[in-house]
Amino acid sequence: MTGTESLKEQAGIAACQFITDGMALGLGTGSTVRYSIIEIARMIEQEGIEVAGVPTSEDTRQLAEMLGIPLLEIRDAGSLDLTIDGADEFDQNFDLIKGGGGALTREKIVALASEAMVVVADDSKQVSTLGAFPLPVEVDGMAWDSVRDGISDLCPGPVALRGGEDEPFVTDNRGYILDCSFGPTISNPLDLESRIRAIDGVVEAGLFVGICDAVVMASQDEVSTLVKPGGRLG
Ligand code: A5P
Repeated sequence: MTGTESLKEQAGIAACQFITDGMALGLGTGSTVRYSIIEIARMIEQEGIEVAGVPTSEDTRQLAEMLGIPLLEIRDAGSLDLTIDGADEFDQNFDLIKGGGGALTREKIVALASEAMVVVADDSKQVSTLGAFPLPVEVDGMAWDSVRDGISDLCPGPVALRGGEDEPFVTDNRGYILDCSFGPTISNPLDLESRIRAIDGVVEAGLFVGICDAVVMASQDEVSTLVKPGGRLG
């Protein structure tokens, strides 16, 4: 296992400290939260906890099913107790960029349906200003080029169709993704999110503002749990 992979594993496992018996969980998507999902399966099998999860992607659904984690549909779950998910970037306000794996729309629906959200990350994801990671925006495939033009008016760098025109990446919702190179300039993510969402054809933007309550971050030296002051886990 590489150094980064080990950090992801440590963060993924440590985040499971927030799980208690009987919880309904949002199960995030990505290579870090994958370790949380494996740990949840271990807790079910070895500690006998009873939990159920709502997956945020078809990849996560398959993984959870393979591991024997009971699953729920979000419409049946009502409110979830906790979502654990990865992030591409997080800042000091616990605001996030997500969607590197293309699952941002379901990830946001599930996180917003949850009483609390914990992010798992290695320390390379911590930034002072969001935007060095190109912001993923899910769009209706029919309108991707007009949305690109609309976002280009807001974005100082390129706005690229993920996968390219010949073979666009298709999300679980049959949408496309635009990766928007803002650079580390997103000082008001709430305002940018509302401007992007106002463009016709946008399904969802990968800015998660005021949703994350804690980050479990692994670095070479330690795993730290950063809890948002005044957040739902504070
Ligand atoms: C999936 O669409 C993303 O939001 C991921 O949660 C995010 O990209 C983090 O993934 P990694 O843990 O693989 O970096």
